[in-house]
Amino acid sequence: MLRTVTATRYVTPLREGGSLPGLVEADDDGLYVLKFRGAGQGPKALAAEIVAGELARDLGLPVPELVLLELDPALGAAEPDPEIQELIQASAGINLGVDFLPGSLPYDPTDPPDADLAADVVWLDALITNVDRTPRNPNLLRWHGNLWLIDHGASLYAFHGPDPLSRARGAFPPIRDHVLLPAASSVAAADERLAGRADPARAASLVPEEWADGSAYGEFLTQRLDAPRVWADV
Ligand SMILES: Nc1ncnc2c1ncn2[C@@H]1O[C@H](COP(=O)(O)OP(=O)(O)OP(=O)(O)O)[C@@H](O)[C@H]1O
Ligand SMILES: [Mg+2]
Repeated sequence: MLRTVTATRYVTPLREGGSLPGLVEADDDGLYVLKFRGAGQGPKALAAEIVAGELARDLGLPVPELVLLELDPALGAAEPDPEIQELIQASAGINLGVDFLPGSLPYDPTDPPDADLAADVVWLDALITNVDRTPRNPNLLRWHGNLWLIDHGASLYAFHGPDPLSRARGAFPPIRDHVLLPAASSVAAADERLAGRADPARAASLVPEEWADGSAYGEFLTQRLDAPRVWADV
């Protein structure tokens, strides 16, 4: 189970993000990036965040803690931007919280990570069909010197269309634009390191049932992990 915390203070909107995430303080004194259930991409984007983020964690990749974040819309009463005010009102109840990494820096391609770590991230993103790890939008942070993975809301996009399971075993051509591909060692070797470590059923079981059918996400990834993994041929 993901922990559940309750927002106690709405601090500020994070204007960099397309989905207008907010920064909030919670009743455990932690600061979290709040990803709104009522945002345009809908609860399936939050389901993808959980399944992809927790799968990455199984593989030993650094992802900030994910929590379920209870929001009382009254907390946003002082927010002057009507678009954000609307988001807050549409997101009463449970949302996704991502542990805030204070003082983290955006990814700098002149300071790439270790080549095996880069290959592991490329492999992960081919598995979860993540289109959002490009030079324009790397969704990687540098914090205390280490690389951290954020923002998996655009992954697993087959679930926004009909019959996602029919697409489970497919190739993933957008991996060509991955920001870490130039820095990565062999993705075939990453496949050997990682394929046995993923536990899609665990990750999928963490999705609140009001958001999406988690078991379908688990089934999709289980099929995708079956050999032959054409998508891992990067
Ligand atoms: N856990 C975190 N710690 C520190 N900063 C963060 C964290 N999560 C997000 N941010 C900052 O907020 C920005 C937006 O977050 P995120 O990418 O998750 O939102 P999004 O709306 O899905 O974005 P996008 O525009 O990429 O679709 C990030 O680029 C980063 O600068
Ligand atoms: Mg982003």
